[in-house]
Amino acid sequence: MCGIVGVTGTDNSVSILINGLEKLEYRGYDSAGILVNDSESNNHLVKQTGDISNLKKLVDNKVKGHSGIGHTRWATHGGVTVENSHPQFSNDERFYLVHNGVIENYKELKQEYLSDVNFKSQTDTEVIVQLVDKFVVKDGLSTKDAFKKAISLLGNSSYGFLLIDTEDPETLYVAKNKSPLLIGKCDGYNVVCSDSVAMLNETKTFMEIEDGDFLIVKPNSVFVEDKNGKEVTRDTFEVDIDPSEADKGTYPNYMLKEVDEQPNVMRHLASKYLDQDGMPVIDKKLLDDINKSDRLYIVGAGTSYHAGLVGKALFEKMVKIPTEVVVSSEFAYADPLLPNKPFFIFLSQSGETADSREVLSNINKKGYSSLTITNVANSTLSREATYTLLLEAGPEISVASTKAYTAQIALEAILAKAVGISINNEKANNFDIKQQLGLVATGMQAVIEEKQQIEEIANEYFVKANRAFYIGRGIDYYVSMEASLKLKEISYVQAEGFASGELKHGTIALIEEGTPVIGIISQDKTAGLTRSNLEETAARGAKIITIAKQSIAKDGDTFIIPDVDELLTPLVTVIPAQLLAYYTSLNKNLNVDRPRNLAKSVTVQ
Ligand code: G6P
Repeated sequence: MCGIVGVTGTDNSVSILINGLEKLEYRGYDSAGILVNDSESNNHLVKQTGDISNLKKLVDNKVKGHSGIGHTRWATHGGVTVENSHPQFSNDERFYLVHNGVIENYKELKQEYLSDVNFKSQTDTEVIVQLVDKFVVKDGLSTKDAFKKAISLLGNSSYGFLLIDTEDPETLYVAKNKSPLLIGKCDGYNVVCSDSVAMLNETKTFMEIEDGDFLIVKPNSVFVEDKNGKEVTRDTFEVDIDPSEADKGTYPNYMLKEVDEQPNVMRHLASKYLDQDGMPVIDKKLLDDINKSDRLYIVGAGTSYHAGLVGKALFEKMVKIPTEVVVSSEFAYADPLLPNKPFFIFLSQSGETADSREVLSNINKKGYSSLTITNVANSTLSREATYTLLLEAGPEISVASTKAYTAQIALEAILAKAVGISINNEKANNFDIKQQLGLVATGMQAVIEEKQQIEEIANEYFVKANRAFYIGRGIDYYVSMEASLKLKEISYVQAEGFASGELKHGTIALIEEGTPVIGIISQDKTAGLTRSNLEETAARGAKIITIAKQSIAKDGDTFIIPDVDELLTPLVTVIPAQLLAYYTSLNKNLNVDRPRNLAKSVTVQ
């Protein structure tokens, strides 16, 4: 989703902004722009629709800057046009603004304050920059007071703002509410960004900003006021990521790199969270809080929601606490009937998903404890939850989530084992998580090495398909949902994950000659039933593909997955599905890493 970059105090401003925008490309966007102000106080505004490469073609050597702001836009208000892209600017061209988020009352503000202003765009953002201009030029306020006044009118809107007053271009005005924004501290200059990945080539030291904060950033200073107008200092933190981790190296795209990294992610989680004897090392207070609860809620969106479904099986088997898995955008507004002692587990690769944040903010108001499992240290969901467990999977850049999904499941398994042994649960006691994660890593690797066969199947069955079904029961059904999401999001094949027994109650009507149906078969108890359901579709013309666990595989199965504990099979059965989606997208000549209409980090509700 939209990305923000800013810099003040260096003649390298143009390249810092452009490199930063390129690093943010993975979040998804449809236009981009920069405004730089050079040492002779000339403004250069360059905006373009489409890829950053389009923008770069317009940035010739006359475009120089000592400070500036930049943006990647994912359209919400108004279509994909140069006029609607950011920076937005006031009609006198004094103020320029980039914005992430949504201004809920922008139409009312326009009517009340700006009825005499001609607008150039359909964006909510332009209203704010015109408002600042009005408060300064017509009402005589300072830029600081005008910006603060504008912000005070925004109600519960979400925003990360970066404003530049070209009469004092070394000063960047920053404000944030419910949208991520960080300050990066550099040597003699400072940067601003919505994701540290954008500025890792400049610095590893970042300053957190909290909701409601207002900041003035200059080359050698950062002034912060909290939501009550009180001057405060905010903590800095170091981002421990090598910038090269966010590069795709020799890979043709990020998704393939991230799929390949999964065995190592499993090994890393085992070494981080297990001691030499394979026992989990997890904060005892967290385990006690979970043990005290009478119901667990796992909250997530998209792929993280699917990882939560597997978590339900893990917690119910090893912790014996009823567990509900909820889609954050629904749960936030469902006014749910909660038990006496709920405990909430947030799953989020980015730690920034706005729908999940809404749930966390609601439950924080009620004083309930929570845990965030995320890949991004210091992300908002991490900061605002009682506890955090980090996935440490390395940056996930491809929009289609792969290693974050398997890391979330593995970490849920480690946590369930930890809580389970603390209450002497038999399944947990006997669950050798260290050995199992080793088997999973080897099993994943074995599947990854079958890439060629997977590509052949993708070409034969999916590249020309309009629709496909993944089916399974129990845990295999949960993987079916994730497998079909991968296929639809990057290859645009309409795919559904179905509980295999449910197919015959309606959806089987969609099966026609040649429809691919993929059965996931990893559970002894239900294998025979899923096979029967596959036969039912074959009888109606479906082309059958199977992903089966070795010990229950049959002649003719398409992919045979090495055996791992029944609770952990999703970690391996998902790999062929990820690669089938990958090769389908690749061989349809689609953009694997940045599928149309999607964003990696969804910071609006
Ligand atoms: C977007 C991404 C998905 C992701 C979902 C939830 O839709 O494209 O890959 O699963 O957001 O994101 P989160 O960061 O909360 O896991």
